[in-house]
Amino acid sequence: MYTIVDYKHLGGLTHEMSIEAKQLARKAQAGQFLIIRMNDEGERIPLTIADADPDKGTITIVFQAIGRSTEELATYKVGDTLSDVVGPLGRASEIEKYGKVIIVGGGVGIAPIYPIAKALKAAGNHVISIIGAKNKDLLFWEDRMAAVSNELHIATDDGSCGHKGFVTDILDDICQKEEIAAVWAVGPMIMMKNCVRVTKPYGIKTFVSMNPVMIDGTGMCGGCRIQVGDETKFACVDGPEFDGHLVDFDLAMKRSAYLKDMEAKGREYYHD
Ligand code: NAD
Ligand code: FES
Repeated sequence: MYTIVDYKHLGGLTHEMSIEAKQLARKAQAGQFLIIRMNDEGERIPLTIADADPDKGTITIVFQAIGRSTEELATYKVGDTLSDVVGPLGRASEIEKYGKVIIVGGGVGIAPIYPIAKALKAAGNHVISIIGAKNKDLLFWEDRMAAVSNELHIATDDGSCGHKGFVTDILDDICQKEEIAAVWAVGPMIMMKNCVRVTKPYGIKTFVSMNPVMIDGTGMCGGCRIQVGDETKFACVDGPEFDGHLVDFDLAMKRSAYLKDMEAKGREYYHD
């Protein structure tokens, strides 16, 4: 059993939870994810590891309560237990000394981008972070991001904090002015697709973190397949990070829209 040791409501549908998971906390690397099951009958929920504290033996997750299981998870309190927390899964981010790098986190994607920024900074890179949300109330972890960045830029769709507009506006502006060695983007699929569109003319290597629907998380079910260049890849074992210039975002978005419909039906069933 895995005990919830800390909880925060981050705004809107977004929740932060720290869970005691000693082994996982020791092994977790930036970019990896875990799968949670709340109880024996529970659905598997894949979530990126947003932070890990090997000394305390805890890991942190940030999730949106947008499906049957995540809505239920949001009702759990400090002291409650989860029956399974499996991980770390997937391949770690390619952390090395690149030089000047840009980290882009959109909405709930701010959480998974944090450990990547932290690892890149620790590796000696100059980290320029750009985070964005619909409005000021939905922004979170500005302080944490500032602590692991050389520069922090903020965008909100409505202009209630920082630049009024999308994170891609700031990305475009910086790419025009500075020599950037690599970019990481995590957030809604359309944001990652547009980040890649911005960096392509500059030939900047761009990593994106794909989070299609996952079932087993072990490369067996094929549920998380995506097209990367000429190859079909499984996000759970080949990713979740891929070369954004090769990802077929349109296909991935089509699959995700179809599965969202099924998720909505699941939610209706749960509320009935
Ligand atoms: P959101 O819709 O509020 O968007 C967040 C930010 O992304 C916006 O403020 C904007 O700056 C940018 N953005 C949005 N649309 C854009 C566009 N058309 N062009 C350029 N930039 C754009 O985000 P949300 O509601 O928090 O949703 C987050 C999404 O991130 C979810 O769909 C979730 O599945 C996904 N996610 C992905 C990962 C991952 O590992 N890839 C992890 C967590 C969440
Ligand atoms: Fe089943 Fe990736 S989740 S193959």
